[in-house]
Amino acid sequence: MRRTTARSGPKASAVDAAYEECRSLVRRTRPTEHALMDLMPPSVRPACWAMYAAFAHADDLLDFSDETPQERGNQLREWRAALEADLASGTSDDPIRLALTDAVRRWGLDLGDLLGALDAVQQDDGREGVATWQEWRERAHAQNVSWPEQLMRILARCGMPVPVRLRDLPGFTRFVEGLFLTDMLRDLPEDLDGGHVWLPTEVLERFDVTPADLIARRWTPAVRELITHLAGEARAWLDAARRALRSTLPLGPAIVLDTTVDLFGAELDAIVRAGGDALSRPVRVPRHKQWRILGPSRARAAVVWRLTLPPETVAADKPSAVDIPEDTPEWQPVPVADPPLPPRPHRDGVRPPEIAAALLPHHVAIVMDGNGRWATALGLPRDEGHRAGAVALRDVVQGALEIGLQHLTVYAFSTENWKRSPDEVAKLFAIMRAELLDGELLQHDVRLRWVGSPDGLPEDVVEVLRRQEHATRHRTGLTLNVCVNYGGRAELARAGASLARASLAGEIDPGRVSEQLFASHLPHHAMPDVDLMWRTSGELRVSNFLPWHAHYAELYFTDEPWPEVDRRGLWEAIEAYTHRKRRKGASTAPVVQARHDEL
Ligand code: IPE
Ligand code: IPE
Ligand code: MG
Repeated sequence: MRRTTARSGPKASAVDAAYEECRSLVRRTRPTEHALMDLMPPSVRPACWAMYAAFAHADDLLDFSDETPQERGNQLREWRAALEADLASGTSDDPIRLALTDAVRRWGLDLGDLLGALDAVQQDDGREGVATWQEWRERAHAQNVSWPEQLMRILARCGMPVPVRLRDLPGFTRFVEGLFLTDMLRDLPEDLDGGHVWLPTEVLERFDVTPADLIARRWTPAVRELITHLAGEARAWLDAARRALRSTLPLGPAIVLDTTVDLFGAELDAIVRAGGDALSRPVRVPRHKQWRILGPSRARAAVVWRLTLPPETVAADKPSAVDIPEDTPEWQPVPVADPPLPPRPHRDGVRPPEIAAALLPHHVAIVMDGNGRWATALGLPRDEGHRAGAVALRDVVQGALEIGLQHLTVYAFSTENWKRSPDEVAKLFAIMRAELLDGELLQHDVRLRWVGSPDGLPEDVVEVLRRQEHATRHRTGLTLNVCVNYGGRAELARAGASLARASLAGEIDPGRVSEQLFASHLPHHAMPDVDLMWRTSGELRVSNFLPWHAHYAELYFTDEPWPEVDRRGLWEAIEAYTHRKRRKGASTAPVVQARHDEL
């Protein structure tokens, strides 16, 4: 852990160990929250673990120890009193209290507010349950508003213009309620083990369910309806809160908000899907789903913090691997969804332009250029650009599916790109491999094809390309050709060699080599001609990309670097294409007839 200030008081190593203990407690008992905390800037994370661990510990003292309810209440009261003494003295012999004491001092947290929230947890001691939604809401706010506000305070101390009094923002209390209800549904098995039902009596009565039904884990139709209703409520609250809050937050916190809503939404799905099991065992979101949500957010958040916060705040003390499954031994490919999922909507809800299928280009090719310059201009290493570029591609593919494109070919690594530093090349392949293994794109109706040569490629990249090609071979939606280690001239030379061999074997007559015959010897002879070739980042050249297939492509150049592109860029390119007049050598022609004049 990075320490920047010299301090008196407890030894730095003891404080570090205390934070680490908080981290492992949160990770063990609240893996989702732990993963969300990893979206925060690295220097802020220890304070998150400390605050959260304190609340989790207080909660667990009331819920789980073997003592009588009265003794449990006393334990929490003693712990709370000890915390206050520790905060005054600046040190502690208890790791959670030591970490929290350090966080409070380091970041100037509002002690009164934090202790007030702990007192609200304490009030659960001896409480029988909650009668009305109103009471439930008050409990939710009292226990849960304080610590996200303290988090904002920390970001503000880092120099970020964030609203500190979150409770004044429209939508924030709804957000807290959505989280609290999800958490409650998730913790049902444990609460029921302890004989607690924290859902409002008024909702139980409405669905004709008694606390005894729940405690006895009776999965009656009424209980099922109740759980489904509550999951729907939690989801609706979270969605509404996201809509209200998003525009009030800077980009970094907005990413955390979005990811939280998505992850909690996935948990709600999992709870509903688990049926009666949700009453008796903790429900987990499958890891690949978590990773699909967290992976892109991690990349985005890392970039955004670097852009918006001082370097010492974001300097990572660990490599930025996505930290979800503690025990995942190696990257595992995510199985492709069957049937494929519909395209993921754009985060702002934008929809594709309506273009008649006959006017759409059949095949779009993209030179995804400008990753490196984008990153460099922002003071980031080049690989951050490639990482952000992968995120851009994900969105563009969703847009291709939405608009109904048949073929999309993207230039991911050229045979000329070997001239780059070994470090950049290695990172590029690592990013590519992770993208392919994660398989977000492959959950949709995408058939992946690899275009290029295996010569010189790392074996694991070749393996994953081949594996994912195979796994998606039956898909009929979008064919996504990924050009990795691709060179246009090399492709032509290979076709020439193949023709020469066929000629030597007496299979063809060299005097009759037609365009069609030549094309049939290309490594990817089934690939249709490119209608539209788009290059980003202001470069006006084709860089050895698809010389055969793009012979009559409409060229389209835009200035923005690839990481700034999303699906709207693809739609604009396609719209521009529909206004082109494709004459193909003739003297006049009607407006573009993309598909038909190819057939
Ligand atoms: C395109 O971005 C991605 C690859 C070539 C792999 P660049 O890395 O070429 O970015 P610039 O052109 O240097 O900005
Ligand atoms: C083309 O971009 C290759 C890819 C996008 C993979 P480059 O950045 O390598 O092209 P040049 O060198 O600028 O022409
Ligand atoms: Mg380039």
